Amino acid sequence: MRITQAKKEDAKELFALEQQLFSKENFPLSLRMFRYHLGRNICFVAKEDEKIVGYILLLKRKRWLKLYSLGVAREFRGKKIGVQLLEFALHYASAQSYEKVLLEVRRDNEGAIALYESFGFSVLQTSLGFYGDGCDALIMQKKLV
Ligand SMILES: CC(C)(COP(=O)(O)OP(=O)(O)OC[C@H]1O[C@@H](n2cnc3c(N)ncnc32)[C@H](O)[C@@H]1OP(=O)(O)O)[C@@H](O)C(=O)NCCC(=O)NCCS
Repeated sequence: MRITQAKKEDAKELFALEQQLFSKENFPLSLRMFRYHLGRNICFVAKEDEKIVGYILLLKRKRWLKLYSLGVAREFRGKKIGVQLLEFALHYASAQSYEKVLLEVRRDNEGAIALYESFGFSVLQTSLGFYGDGCDALIMQKKLV
């Protein structure tokens, strides 16, 4: 498995993976949005035999990054790919001198919350009924400086 920065040509493959990862109520990214973000923001992909099996998308703000999305293909889960993508992203954030990383996660997504907590993210606030099905979002933050 290797992690590289995504290129514009990866948009279609990322979009296909996104449809497996996030159902409608979780606001999946459209192909158009992937194209937009690949031009403007920062996305790292995990590849196995040249196939994208996971990705992490970070939106650039002036002094901080929003971790917009992280996902690993079902058949590749539990192999620390999520950990490695997050490590890669946080290394990038520190190297670029961003002050913090913020993210939103479903309150019922125990696996993702455990992963973020293991990297030192903590809950800043709760957005009640944020998702399409009424689930709350936890807004989590990790300070880098
Ligand atoms: C969350 C996700 C990215 C984790 O990716 P992964 O490659 O399977 O995760 P890893 O193998 O790197 O797991 C690392 C840690 O995350 C936590 N974790 C991941 N999946 C978990 C699960 N289903 N239940 C409990 N803990 C879990 C554990 O702490 C795990 O460490 P451990 O194996 O030592 O217990 C993946 O499950 C996924 O793509 N889910 C669907 C999309 C999603 O919910 N993304 C997050 C949205 S904010």
